[in-house]
Amino acid sequence: MTAQNQQVKSSFQIDSATQNGETIDVLWKDGHKSVYNNLWLMDACRCKQCFQDDTLSVNPGNDPLTMPLSPSSNSVDVEQDGSLKIVWDDPRSDHESIFDSAWLRVHCQSETGRSLARKTWDKTLDMPTFDFNDVVSNDDALFVWLDSIIETGVSIIENAPRNEEAFRELAARVGFLHTRYHPSNVFTLDTTDKIAQKIQHAYKLDRLFYHSDLTAYTDSGVIQLLHCLEYNNSNQEAEGYSIIADGFKLAEVLRKEYPEHYKQLTEEYAPACRRRMVAEEKVLQEGGEAPGNVSQNNTIGKYAWESYRLNHVIKLDEWGNPAEVRFNHNTRAPLSMPHDKVKSFYQAYRKFVELLEDQQYTKEFLLKLGQVLICDNGRILHGRTEVGSTLKRKVLGTYVKGESFKSRWRLLLGQKAQMNDFWLTGLSDKALETLANRFV
Ligand SMILES: [Fe+2]
Ligand SMILES: [Zn+2]
Repeated sequence: MTAQNQQVKSSFQIDSATQNGETIDVLWKDGHKSVYNNLWLMDACRCKQCFQDDTLSVNPGNDPLTMPLSPSSNSVDVEQDGSLKIVWDDPRSDHESIFDSAWLRVHCQSETGRSLARKTWDKTLDMPTFDFNDVVSNDDALFVWLDSIIETGVSIIENAPRNEEAFRELAARVGFLHTRYHPSNVFTLDTTDKIAQKIQHAYKLDRLFYHSDLTAYTDSGVIQLLHCLEYNNSNQEAEGYSIIADGFKLAEVLRKEYPEHYKQLTEEYAPACRRRMVAEEKVLQEGGEAPGNVSQNNTIGKYAWESYRLNHVIKLDEWGNPAEVRFNHNTRAPLSMPHDKVKSFYQAYRKFVELLEDQQYTKEFLLKLGQVLICDNGRILHGRTEVGSTLKRKVLGTYVKGESFKSRWRLLLGQKAQMNDFWLTGLSDKALETLANRFV
């Protein structure tokens, strides 16, 4: 479905298509040649027998038990609108497939590389910055913002009204809130909160070293938002400043310069843990009201939590590229490995920390009033400088489910391709990004 006045790039236009035994060979107008396996084409068919165009899922007509393993075609033609029409010699029934040419090109089976590499950054990062009103009221601005999170993993929103309602409104633009042990999925980091300092290490006032959040949870691939409501510093020191680093950059440096350490951090596990038992008792000690208990004999607090998880500091994807960085020294559990492996792992772990202490790879800045810092927790390591005795800082925080964020980004990206829903179903990120740029 080409929009009026917009011309599709030559790389998405078929020059010719020929039957060639078990494949169909397509020559594109940009000179590229693609070879498609017949069985692959028949399996991907979007005709009414094979595919439900209302639910956008596979129809019983696509039956793995009767699918011919070596299908052959009677004819192959390029239609007037540029799509490819195949008439099959299918013993089961009359069967025709029509493939959108742009969709076919992004599924080219002769091209390698299924993921798009993101640009990594160091101290020279020019922080992507957006305006609150733009991103909450305009979907084009929202897409540009979400796309920058995909590219760099971090951004700042300015001019956010300093209240929880506005913060929730902004987070809802990114996706659904992620709930952990506690039903209130927006939390407050308040430097004057003495009880919180006894419950969570991150609330204490010392320097909070670069880390990922939720390392002891199965799903840590979230987007974190931190909104500065209050910053009152009487002594001009850089206290309570945000610090961030690109985990993918560190992985890149290790892979290139310290391959042995890289191997350790991608193959060995660093366990993480979170045991949260005493929150209610501490609230009581301070004269607060304790929430109800959940166990029958009242021995387990309502918001108690206990988890343990094995993480790779650098987790690789199916193609061997860094997909997620999980690092939090504070929530590390004892190493779980044979005695003769400990030293070499620890050397690699230390190198990772050394890189985080190297100012070449990090950024330190003040998150100002009304600013919201957004970090992809699966990639960006964050922390803050020490908080002095006179600093008053109040920050709201929350997490958005990574999957929900990704879905929002993919939906907005897909709109740019201007294609039918059933051609937008089942595309990799790379394919979607390519189709979003299919017009000249
Ligand atoms: Fe954190
Ligand atoms: Zn079909």
